Order: sequence, then C-alpha cells, then structure tokens
Amino acid sequence: MTVTELQTAFGEVYGASPQTTYFSPGRVNLIGEHTDYNGGSVFPCALSFGTYLLLRNNGKQEVNFRSLNQPEVITVPLDKLTERLENSWINYPLGVFAQFIKRGIEIKEGYDILIWGNVPNGAGLSSSAALEVVTAYALNDQLNTGFDRTELAKIGQKAEHEFALVNCGIMDQFASANGKKDHAIFLNCDTLEFELVPVKLDGIKVVISNTHSPHKLDSGAYNQRVEECKQAVTELNNVRPVKYLAELTEKEFKEIESAITDPVAHKRARHVVGEVQRTVDAVDALKAGNIEKFGKLMQASHISLRDDYEVTGLHLDTMAEEAWKIDGVLGARMTGGGFGGCTVALVKEEAIDTYIQEVGKAYEAKTGLKPEFYVAEIGDGARKI
Ligand code: GLA
Repeated sequence: MTVTELQTAFGEVYGASPQTTYFSPGRVNLIGEHTDYNGGSVFPCALSFGTYLLLRNNGKQEVNFRSLNQPEVITVPLDKLTERLENSWINYPLGVFAQFIKRGIEIKEGYDILIWGNVPNGAGLSSSAALEVVTAYALNDQLNTGFDRTELAKIGQKAEHEFALVNCGIMDQFASANGKKDHAIFLNCDTLEFELVPVKLDGIKVVISNTHSPHKLDSGAYNQRVEECKQAVTELNNVRPVKYLAELTEKEFKEIESAITDPVAHKRARHVVGEVQRTVDAVDALKAGNIEKFGKLMQASHISLRDDYEVTGLHLDTMAEEAWKIDGVLGARMTGGGFGGCTVALVKEEAIDTYIQEVGKAYEAKTGLKPEFYVAEIGDGARKI
C-alpha cells in the first residue's frame, strides 16, 4: 500500500485524517547469529520494507489500535497501558507504551493508531522489532521525550521481553532504529558501539529466500538457547571469571571448555565463540573487498548454527545447502532466530535467475513448500514520513 492509501484507510477506520505517519524497517542479518545476547558482534542491515504507523491525538482517555491485517480496533484505557494482554498482536506496541510509562513519562491523552507492514510475517525479518521501534519512534516524537535511537532500540527490546515474553538480544531493534541505506551495522552488543560499513557489492546482490516455514520464536526454543548459554557461562566461572561467552577468543575457549559439563551447553558455547570470530573476520573481508571470503564465512556460520546451535532444520538447511551448489553464489546462510524463516545469500547478478529457479525447484521438491525470493534493498532506519 502507498502512504496515501494508508491515510485513506485511516480516515475510513477513524473518520478523521492522521496527523503523522512514521516508518521503521525490518532487517536482515548478514552474519553474527545468536551472538547479541552473548555480548558479541552482529552485522545486520535494515531493509526497505517495514512497518508504518499513522496516528492522531484523539483527546480521549484511551488509545485505539488497529492493524490493517486484523479485523477490529482494540481500545486500551490510558490506565491499562502497562498491562500485557493474552495472545494479542498489540502487545508489541502496548509493551512500548508501557516502557515509556515505566521511564516516568506521563501519557495524558490518547491516540488513534493505524498500523500496516510489508515485512512478511513469521519470516524472521523482524516484523515485531519494526513494530516496536516504529511505536517508540512515534511516541518519542509525539511526547518530545528526546530519547536517542539507541534508547528507542532498548525500549523496543524491553517491550519484547516483558510483553512478547521473548528474551531477545538488541540486534533487531537496533538495526530497525539505526539502519542506513546501503550500509550494514557492525554492532558490538556489549558496548553498543557501532560502525556503519558500506555494502557496495559490485555485481553482487543480497538475496533473501523465504522458506515459508514460519520461524517460531515464541515457541520457547529461543529462550532455551539463551538459558543454555547462561549455563555455559556459569560453569566457565568455576575456572575463570567470564561475563559473556563472546569475550573469549577461540584459543581461550579451548583452554577452559572442559569446565562446561553439559554437552548441549558446550556445543552452544562453541558456536557463539566461533561466530563472534567469523563476524569480525567477515567485516574485515568486506572492507578489504574480499567477498569470496565473506561468503565462505557465511557458509561456516550456517554449519555451526545447524550442528552446534541446532536452530536450522529441514527447511533452512535445504535452502542453504541447495544455494551452495549454484555457480555464482558466494555464500548463503540462515538469518535471524532460526527454526524456519529466511536465508540470506550473496549472489552474482548474472546468476540470480538460475539461483531462484534451481534452488526454488529443489526446495519445493524436498519440502513440499513454495519458497519466495526477494532481492534485498538496504534502507534507512526509523523515520517520520
Ligand atoms: C532473533 C532475536 C535477536 C537475535 C537473533 C539471532 O532475531 O530477536 O536478538 O538473537 O534472533 O541472532
């Protein structure tokens, strides 16, 4: 939908024009998976698609939420904005309102809100982070709270923890808030220092392949991984002080890994330590124009996520492994939380048609699902339209 169409839709729902329209993007992570909540580095970029939020001040003591993907308006009185609902999509924006209130911000008047997004749902491209960050950006603007983009990302992450009950890291909200056109964000998730690195790939495109097998982040498997990493850290502390897995080099890890007695926690930790190194190496390779090396590191990342972190499965594995067979594919890996969702691949322009045809055919034959492919456009972070 265009912005004008969204504004018309707002009028149809609320009988008045919106005052302001905001946008925040989804993201694709190039490398650095399941490292963020372990204090490691990530390398995501914001996409050109995302979530739009239109609003007007309604002068009432209630906030009305309506998504164009949902049939009804949900009304929340101002004094109930800190209460999570059971099984409702509005927990994402509601959780953000609650965070503003928790930070001592007074919300004196309500809003009429309309939301629409074009991030494919359940694809692991951060439709939820886009919704959280667009809400945080809008409230920050409306209430003149002056939070910077990093703070808005933290607000979104807290909303996810407390209202969506997923103990996620900061990557998705940070990318949605801080993205920059044609750049990836090399983010240290411990210090939150970051560098925008140009992704100018001569004759190579970032291709996202949707398995259409939904990634089930709220299934508990994600929170379980977070716990397993914590367990590894606890055991490592028997032999040396460790705050995060990501602070260990591969060599340091080898010296003390036997302290982790649980074999599952050990595998998880091995992934994290290796993935942090791969991310740093990949960014160096990109800066040096060595895209072949970047692609190989993407493949190694997928293998580690498949064998040690165990967050892939038939759909993501088939999509990545079929991609590796194609001439002109520099690298391919799962992206995001896993358990379904999308892969990301670097593909030479002249090989894109073959990639889509061959990988699509093989994937469908093996899984019975029809995949979808998008040539990614790397866009800017949250903004007013
Ligand atoms: C999800 C989470 C992120 C990150 C990724 C895995 O997208 O929201 O914080 O942990 O999974 O890298």
